[in-house]
Order: sequence, then structure tokens, then C-alpha cells
Amino acid sequence: MPAQILNGTLVGEALKQDVAARAAKLIAQGLQPGLAVVIVGDNAASKVYVGSKVKACQALGLHSEKHELPASTTTDELLALVQSLNARNEIDGILVQLPLPPQIETRRILEAIDPLKDVDGFHAINVGRLSQGEDALTPCTPTGVIALLDHYQIPIAGQHAVVIGRSDIVGKPQAMLLLHRHATVTICHSRTKDLPAVARTADILVAAIGRTAMVTGDYVKEGAVVIDVGINNLTSPDEARRVFPDAEIPQRLEGIAKRGYTLIGDVEPRSVIEKAGWFTPVPGGVGPLTIAMLMQNTLKAAVMRRGKA
Ligand code: GUN
Repeated sequence: MPAQILNGTLVGEALKQDVAARAAKLIAQGLQPGLAVVIVGDNAASKVYVGSKVKACQALGLHSEKHELPASTTTDELLALVQSLNARNEIDGILVQLPLPPQIETRRILEAIDPLKDVDGFHAINVGRLSQGEDALTPCTPTGVIALLDHYQIPIAGQHAVVIGRSDIVGKPQAMLLLHRHATVTICHSRTKDLPAVARTADILVAAIGRTAMVTGDYVKEGAVVIDVGINNLTSPDEARRVFPDAEIPQRLEGIAKRGYTLIGDVEPRSVIEKAGWFTPVPGGVGPLTIAMLMQNTLKAAVMRRGKA
């Protein structure tokens, strides 16, 4: 039986509605949660992500503002902006979109953000608190993955979770979040020996490597839950015919013809759907959860720092 879909669009909408309802109560008390998003340079993908983040705030009644800085911005200039946002009471969340241009010292920027406003959960204080299992602002994408599993009542405790990828944004925090939910966790990466064999031991397999369709059916145990965190552009019609299931091919080819690419994750849908019990599509899987969790973190940050109860 082909895998069942974990519908991130649906779950993301439900979570955002919950945020909107809670935000409305805060706003009625005179507290409007506010998010500042900072983007440096003109990375096309970053612009799309930042646009969605600002739009989501507007839809939920949160204050949002976008700060666009030129690619030539220095570390000191960006630090000055972060400090000015730290100082403003009506700003509850600060998100500096990554990656930053190479001349900017990313860690210094992330450490300059007030940990109470760190809605990405990238500050060392929040990374440390997550690691200790303390209440913290946690990174949006891996937190969204947990929310998705919970929505579909997929058990985590006692399961073997294999996370492919060890980034600070997804892989490492994902492993921590799964561990705190009592999964047995293995983190894999480019140096892992016989990666497909390790992946095949997973009850829950999270692919967060950033390599187009790398995870094939050969990586998947029959019935496993496969979570695809990747977002890549596929431009080759031949590749599209090879990696997508038959039913999807026409619309995928149309996408390539119209825009020059179609979105694909780190998982090869055609072969994985035949093996997995559950899987997340791209688009419409993990992506919408990331935005929903950012909204949730902004609300949480507002309540932590200036909430009444
Ligand atoms: N770039 C890719 N993902 C993210 C994210 O979750 N937060 C930020 N700030 N930048 C990103």
C-alpha cells in the first residue's frame, strides 16, 4: 500500500488559527505580538521565505516589519540594527534570515539577539536550554516536525529516529527534540558508513541534508515514517520523470516548463512512497509547519517577556 500523506498545509493552518485566536486575546489586552524579520542581500530563496513569514504575521493579526539591508552590510551595521530591535518593547521576535553574506560574522549576530526575542532558537542560551530539556524558544522547522507527528498521533517514544543531517538549524535540534520525546536517536551525515543500511533501521526517518532526492526507497524500512525537510529546485524534465510518481509527472513537467523548476525535497518520492507508511510531500509538508511554529514562537516570546499571565 502506498504511503499516507502527512499534510503540512492542513496542520499548519490549524496551528495558525490557534495562534490567531490566542493573539486576539492578547491584542484585546493591549499587547500585540510583533516580529521583525531581517534580510541581508538578495538571495532569491531567502526573499521568498521572508515574504511568507511577513504575510503569515499579517494574516494572524501580529505586527510585523521587514528590514532589508544591502549585500555589502557589515557585521557592525547589522549588530546596530539587532541592538535597536532588542531595545524596542513592541518587538517580541527578531529573525535574521540565514545564510548571511560571507563578510558577516553570523555567530556574533545570532548571539547579539536578546534570547527572549530569539524566535529562531539559534542563540547559545536557547540551544543550551533545549539541550538541557528546559523550556526554550526552539528552532521552527524541527519543532514543526514534532507538531506534525503529534497531529497524526504517530508515536515517538521508544521509536528509533534516524536524522540525516547535522545542521544547527535542523539536524541537531531535531535530534534533541526527538530525544526529549524519548525516541532512540541516531544522527547521520556525509561521513556515516553505509548510510542506507543505518537509515533502514529507522522507524522515523528525517531527511535534512539539502541534496535533491538523495533518500531513495533503498533507505526506507517498510512502513517507516519519512519526513522530508529538504527544499530543492529540480530543473531537468528527465529527472522529474525518474523521481516523481506517474500521477505527478504532468504537473511537475508543467512547472518546469513555466517557471524553469519544480520543488523537490531530499527524498525521492517515486521509490519512497512504495515503502514508507507515512511521508511528507514537498511542497506542502514540513514547510508550512515552519511558518506556523514561527508564529507560535512569536506569541510565546510576547507572553514570556511582557505577558500578564
Ligand atoms: N534559513 C533557512 N531556514 C532558516 C530558519 O529557520 N531561520 C532563519 N533565520 N534562516 C533560515
